Amino acid sequence: MARKLMVTGYGGFVAGSVVWQAVRSGEWDVYALSLIESPEERERFHCIQFDLCDVAKLEGVFAEVRPDAVVHTAAFADIDYCQNNQADAMRVNVGATRDVARLCGASGAKMILCSTDSVFDGTKGLYTEEDAPHAVNFYAETKVEAERIVRETVANGVVSRLSLVMGLPVLGAGNSFLAKTLDALKKGEQVKFPANEIRTPVDVITVGRAFIEIAGNDFSGTIHLGGSTRINRFEMACQIAEELGYSRDLVVATDSNAMPGRALRPNDASLDNGKARRVLDTPMQTLMSGLDLVLRTKEAQNRG
Ligand SMILES: NC(=O)c1ccc[n+]([C@@H]2O[C@H](COP(=O)([O-])OP(=O)(O)OC[C@H]3O[C@@H](n4cnc5c(N)ncnc54)[C@H](OP(=O)(O)O)[C@@H]3O)[C@@H](O)[C@H]2O)c1
Repeated sequence: MARKLMVTGYGGFVAGSVVWQAVRSGEWDVYALSLIESPEERERFHCIQFDLCDVAKLEGVFAEVRPDAVVHTAAFADIDYCQNNQADAMRVNVGATRDVARLCGASGAKMILCSTDSVFDGTKGLYTEEDAPHAVNFYAETKVEAERIVRETVANGVVSRLSLVMGLPVLGAGNSFLAKTLDALKKGEQVKFPANEIRTPVDVITVGRAFIEIAGNDFSGTIHLGGSTRINRFEMACQIAEELGYSRDLVVATDSNAMPGRALRPNDASLDNGKARRVLDTPMQTLMSGLDLVLRTKEAQNRG
């Protein structure tokens, strides 16, 4: 019998990749939780529409589904939104995580939390799982707290810190910088990227694969899911533009920490992915091999 995988935040960017690949694998019955209207049910795919912060509803869904594993992606992920709407950010990023963790802890379901490279202050770079988080904005504070809750509540819990996620939405929409960049480049418009932010971008297909692998294996603890290329976001955008046949002159360098009214960003939040390369079968990609994987997957999807 197929195991049951629950994915929160189904309408989002990362969740779409997890759900699409898990359904295709044929190894999971997938239960996608979302605020948005449910698409049609398909074989091995069930969508349940409600607000994750509705605790009674969440408890009912958990009791009915009895998941083997939960990939918890739902969050307010916009750094400036979280800075300016701290009660909302606490309610979803911490509150909903606490409820999901409590239910996983009590039922034995494995919980995989989507955390972020932003938990680090960006003064060191190439952070390992042993480095201590130090939040520089409110979004990161909520994620540090969510991590603590998962570690303390779920014996087989996984804190997965994602670097900047690159890709095209596999299902739904969500927070894809690549999709917005491609739209602008196609129209010949300039795109702005911060040169001060050094990251290890990871493609959304690899993130989905890794989550599905972790959902089904014995790993617990903290793991960094970053790509194998350490690069600043401006140079990353230049390389992507050139690879796709656009001029790098359309890419404009900015400094995200010199823009008034914005929350502070860590400068070098690059992640060391050595542990992921050691413990996972899912290969970690470079920027270019990740881009290639994303584009090939989109083509395959378009062909049906
Ligand atoms: N993208 C990145 O570069 C990146 C990097 C590091 C970490 N992360 C983390 O990875 C996770 C996924 O990121 P993403 O890029 O996929 O974000 P996203 O596209 O913004 O998706 C997040 C989803 O959370 C759900 N959500 C928010 N409030 C909710 C509520 N009250 N009830 C139910 N669902 C709610 C929404 O899903 P529905 O529309 O289905 O309700 C939303 O689409 C987040 O936890 C984020 O912090 C992302």
